[in-house]
Parts: sequence; C-alpha cells; structure tokens
Amino acid sequence: MWGSHPGPGLPNSDRYTKPARGPAAAQGGRPTFSSSAVADMPPQVYITRSEEETIAVGREIASRLRAPALVLLIGDLGAGKTTLAKGIVSGLGAAAVEDVSSPTFTLIHEYGQNPKVYHIDLYRLDRIPELETLGLDDLWDQRAIVLIEWGEKFSRQLPAERVEIHLDYAAGEDRRITVY
Ligand SMILES: Nc1ncnc2c1ncn2[C@@H]1O[C@H](COP(=O)(O)OP(=O)(O)OP(=O)(O)O)[C@@H](O)[C@H]1O
Ligand SMILES: [Mg+2]
Repeated sequence: MWGSHPGPGLPNSDRYTKPARGPAAAQGGRPTFSSSAVADMPPQVYITRSEEETIAVGREIASRLRAPALVLLIGDLGAGKTTLAKGIVSGLGAAAVEDVSSPTFTLIHEYGQNPKVYHIDLYRLDRIPELETLGLDDLWDQRAIVLIEWGEKFSRQLPAERVEIHLDYAAGEDRRITVY
C-alpha cells in the first residue's frame, strides 16, 4: 500500500508515512462509512498511466457496483474524476464513453435506465442551501448509482453509506486510484 512509501525528497523519509486523508484518517486507515455497495471489495489500489487505463479501471469498478450506491470521486483538479466516471458509466451500460461529459456547469447529468446513473459535480457549490436546491434527497430513494465529484465538500450532508474513490497524482501521467 502507498501509505508506507516515503515521499521523494522528504526528510526522515525512512520514517515518513504519508498522512491518511479524509474519513480514512479517523480510524487509522479504514473509512468510517460502509462500502457494502461494492461486493466483497477490500480497499483496492490501481495505478493508471493514461486516460484510457483510467477508463478501463472505471469499467472494472462498475462491474462490482450494485445499485443503489453512492460513489464519491475525490481528487484534485484534473486528477481524473470525470475520466473515471466515463469508465463507470459505460461499464454500467448507461452511456457510451464519448457521451459522458463533465457536469461542472450543468451540475447533474443522468444516464441510462437500468441502472439509472447520475453524475454530479459540486465544485461550483459552496453553501448548504445551494446544495439543497439540487434535490439530491430524491436520488437516494431510487435504485440508482450516484457518482459525485467534489462531494467531500458536503460530506456531512451526504449519506454515510458510500463508496469513496480517491484519485491522486503520481509520477508523470500516472494516477493512483484507491477504492474504499
Ligand atoms: N492516468 C490518467 N488518468 C486519467 N486522466 C489522465 C491520466 N493521465 C493524464 N490524464 C489527463 O488528465 C485529465 C483528467 O481530467 P478529468 O476531467 O478527468 O479530471 P477531473 O478530476 O474530473 O477534474 P475536475 O476537478 O476539473 O473536474 C485529462 O486531461 C486526461 O487526459
Ligand atoms: Mg471533473
């Protein structure tokens, strides 16, 4: 696992452990939420070297998702959240990769029927009342797969039962994708 790898150029790198991030930090590496929506899936790490490989990982993750499921895609700008969503949406058979686009400005995109897939981007929202206008509560009652970028901004307002996927920049074009 990456958690024990030293960062390049860091002092005391033999003793350095990258700090855990997000909910995983609270319990020494294990998230506090349930990821029961992913069948028999321990935390899993993928390294991808291109957009295409990230799409392929998304397809693999899709094959393990069971609706209803909330999936938070967590990572910096350009880390590959939308790219991974393309793989997940296409893997679920809800739309072709080329028909999946970023919901940064539209906020919510909806794909497919069985399962129905919602792809949401909360980057442009800052306040809880703005979030409430989206009507996300209606989505939890559906047997849908809900993918959210920047959902960690509103972590406490979103259901605790969720899958978190963290995307981190690695060397060059590489991305590290961790599924909790
Ligand atoms: N291994 C990789 N996996 C995914 N994308 C990669 C990879 N290597 C390079 N890229 C590039 O990184 C960019 C990822 O863009 P993407 O829109 O998926 O990011 P994002 O996390 O959704 O960003 P934002 O926070 O702006 O929504 C694309 O331009 C893609 O070509
Ligand atoms: Mg995006």
